[in-house]
Amino acid sequence: MTKPAAWWRTAAIYQVYPRSFADGNGDGVGDVAGIRSRLGHLQDLGVDAIWFSPWYTSPMADAGYDVADYRDIDPIFGTLPEVEALIGEAHTLGLRVIVDIVPNHCSDRHPWFLAAVAAGPGSPERARFHFRPGRAVSPAERSEAPGDGPASSAAGGELPPNDWQSNFGGSGWTQVPDGEWYFHMFASEQPDLNWANPQVVEDFDDILRFWLDRGVDGFRIDVAHGLVKAEGLPDLASLQPGAGKPYEDQAGVHEIYRRWRSIADGYTATDPARERIFVGEIVGPDPEGFARYLRPDELHSAFNFDFLFCAWEAGRLRKVIDDTNASHALVGAPPTWVLSNHDVTRHVTRYGRLGDTGFGFDDRRHGVPSDVELGTRRARAAALLSMALPGGVYVYQGDELGLWEVEDLDDDLRQDPIWQRSGQLEHGRDGCRVPMPWSGRQPPFGFSGDGAVAAEPWLPQPAEWKDYTVEAQQDDPASMLALYRAALAIRPAFGDTPMTWQDSPAEVLTFGRGDLICVTNLSAQPVALPAGKVLLASGPLDDGRAPSDTTVWLRR
Ligand code: NOJ
Repeated sequence: MTKPAAWWRTAAIYQVYPRSFADGNGDGVGDVAGIRSRLGHLQDLGVDAIWFSPWYTSPMADAGYDVADYRDIDPIFGTLPEVEALIGEAHTLGLRVIVDIVPNHCSDRHPWFLAAVAAGPGSPERARFHFRPGRAVSPAERSEAPGDGPASSAAGGELPPNDWQSNFGGSGWTQVPDGEWYFHMFASEQPDLNWANPQVVEDFDDILRFWLDRGVDGFRIDVAHGLVKAEGLPDLASLQPGAGKPYEDQAGVHEIYRRWRSIADGYTATDPARERIFVGEIVGPDPEGFARYLRPDELHSAFNFDFLFCAWEAGRLRKVIDDTNASHALVGAPPTWVLSNHDVTRHVTRYGRLGDTGFGFDDRRHGVPSDVELGTRRARAAALLSMALPGGVYVYQGDELGLWEVEDLDDDLRQDPIWQRSGQLEHGRDGCRVPMPWSGRQPPFGFSGDGAVAAEPWLPQPAEWKDYTVEAQQDDPASMLALYRAALAIRPAFGDTPMTWQDSPAEVLTFGRGDLICVTNLSAQPVALPAGKVLLASGPLDDGRAPSDTTVWLRR
């Protein structure tokens, strides 16, 4: 008998965004009690694991990605004992648990940062972060800035230490009252930690152990490419064209992940049936650089953003799939297939837009018209395509309901720091974080229970979602939910078998895996299907053929 593949190599992993999944206490914000009450949905859906976006103590400057205590739960979400109970309940249902770890930065309210600000320049407390004196304004700059008074010129250091920008817009540096500056790759409330400091390294060893001791099966690593900064923090303008960014993908990150791997493997060794894993959020490196994170003694897997932001176009998808398989084969790691997450425009909306789909903080194409019907048809086809490809697959909460990006939120409700930091130019990510609709015909659609006392959800849900609730879809065989359930039930049959492309017209993607075949028709015309028994189709067939924007699974 062949040894079963490690669970994470083929897993279907569901992302829960706690603030928007289910609200157990009726305050309008999702919480752990709500998640516990809805675990049955995930079991019925048929996923293997759940990844929880951060639920730690946080002032919520970036929806919890600004952590003030890595070992406790924010009161808005619940308590540590509730999370411990949730982990146990998930395991009882056969669902593994992955928690988000945010090691690149903490909150500016974390005791580490408060102590650093209080302790002053040159202190060991400041050495946990990237504090630097500012640059002085040059005489030329000063003559261009007549408003600059003599007091500041005497002090010096009026300018940020270098030209690094925040990913959320504006300078990457913020000044503290004594005049020093600290670097933050994201919001100013998210100071970057200094991973050259052994204390930081040891603290995170302990944080990993804390959660492993509570039974988690793995970690999703936020900004996994960003922890180590280039020596001397060189100006971007000083670098050769084509040189990578000095705050991304530095060689030193690999040492951190080897260390983390040995910690996780230590837990696995005592309980081999439950292999503890890491999935990295890695953005930026080329395919070889990406694969280096997935060497056998580093991370197990990483999100496939190339697939996520690929346009709905056969040639480009085929290339992304080939490149993905090739880069992962370099190190024997399983690919992952991702369509949406809490940072990107929901793929129903992306696929309903013409041309490139857009990924990332600055490419959301907010307001570009989208045809939801077209986007939904493609989202159904993409779901079956992604679930047929070899490796792991991610489902972001609401994908299984066919939710779209909510683009008409009132500006004064927007909470994503990108909105303010971009001078209200970038609308940010709130539109993919609108609370889940569960039941009923009126908001909050069961999100906050049925009680009349329930507060409004923290973001308003579209009235049209009355037809998109779990309740409305669960008995409808034509629904997105029925498609996801059916696909996830069949998917284990693909196993760990590699894929082989089959001959097909240029705009049709056809591949086999063992005795299963997946056909995705991206052309405008219906295409004939290969011989075999149809197991599942993302839409009705046309006289035995696959219509445009349809995926079909067959057994030969
Ligand atoms: C990536 C996370 O997915 C995103 O939501 C967050 O804003 C940034 N990292 C900063 O932590």
